[in-house]
Amino acid sequence: MLDKLESIRDTALEEIEAADDAHTLEQVRVRYLGRKGALTQILRGLSEVSPEERKTIGQQANQAKEIIASAIEARKAALEAQAMEERALKDRVDLTLPGRKPRVGRKHPVSQVLDEITSIFDGLGFQVATGPDIETEYYNFESLNIPEGHPARDLHDTFFVRPGVVLRTHTSPVQMRVMEQIEPPVAVVAPGRTYRVDSDASHSPMFFQVEGLLVDEDVTFAGLKGTLMHFVHEYFGKDTAVRFRPHYFPFTEPSAEVDISCTVCGGQGCRICKHSGWLEILGCGMVHPEVFRFAEYDYERYTGYAFGMGVDRIAMLRHSIDSIHHLYENDLRFLEQF
Ligand code: PHE
Repeated sequence: MLDKLESIRDTALEEIEAADDAHTLEQVRVRYLGRKGALTQILRGLSEVSPEERKTIGQQANQAKEIIASAIEARKAALEAQAMEERALKDRVDLTLPGRKPRVGRKHPVSQVLDEITSIFDGLGFQVATGPDIETEYYNFESLNIPEGHPARDLHDTFFVRPGVVLRTHTSPVQMRVMEQIEPPVAVVAPGRTYRVDSDASHSPMFFQVEGLLVDEDVTFAGLKGTLMHFVHEYFGKDTAVRFRPHYFPFTEPSAEVDISCTVCGGQGCRICKHSGWLEILGCGMVHPEVFRFAEYDYERYTGYAFGMGVDRIAMLRHSIDSIHHLYENDLRFLEQF
């Protein structure tokens, strides 16, 4: 009996030492000290041995029980310490590493340019107007004197949403929407997105324009020239030369395109201005009487001018950006430069 006790104790101690997690250790405890455990069985069976033997065996058994119990406690503590150390190693925080700077957001370069442009016209008394990106053919074309079958429709590379509904190809439909709402005098600028089926280094299917419209009595082409020259000088600097070139738009008559001296070479001629020294930035003209007729304005009494500029083009010139697509790829390395 005593030999048996000794061997139970020794294997128990071996198993305790071998247990390498809390669960295995608990199984060992149950196996020896549990209600049906090996040691418990022996203590229970004491009634069957002779009283002389009972004393020594009882003592030995209790001693073994204590030894096993304290070995389990010690092993448990060791395992916990080991687990804690492993966790600490895994979640280690190196306080000597440099901190990470929080990134500060900023305005997109196109938004910045839009704000700058509208604030110059704000200074001249123009108010900001807006219209929908998804537009009817009536506002985008017909009311602007571009009837169905007019060759100018082909030039617009239109995205159709469904028959009669398009993604606006320019911000000019906002002219008509404003004139339907208010009577002259009208002085508005309309910044917004525009869409055309076109994509290369200087064209994106979605781009931005700022429209301008001024209607009153005695509005003249000279007024248009003065306003746009003021804008160019404010935006690109006093030394920038401005050139009005005759052009055609169905909704203005007479019409012009405006060029500025190349912002890159100063007019000497370079790759950006295709060696002409000039860069086109906008289209403009005197509002066509037919457009006033659609707006139900008295075209005997009122005259007006309108202009529309390409914002992306202007942003590219201002910041020497060589592809319009940089503006829309949302690459932070690019955007963070502004
Ligand atoms: N809507 C014209 C375009 O997109 C620009 C323009 C606007 C021309 C207003 C004249 C008057 O090309």
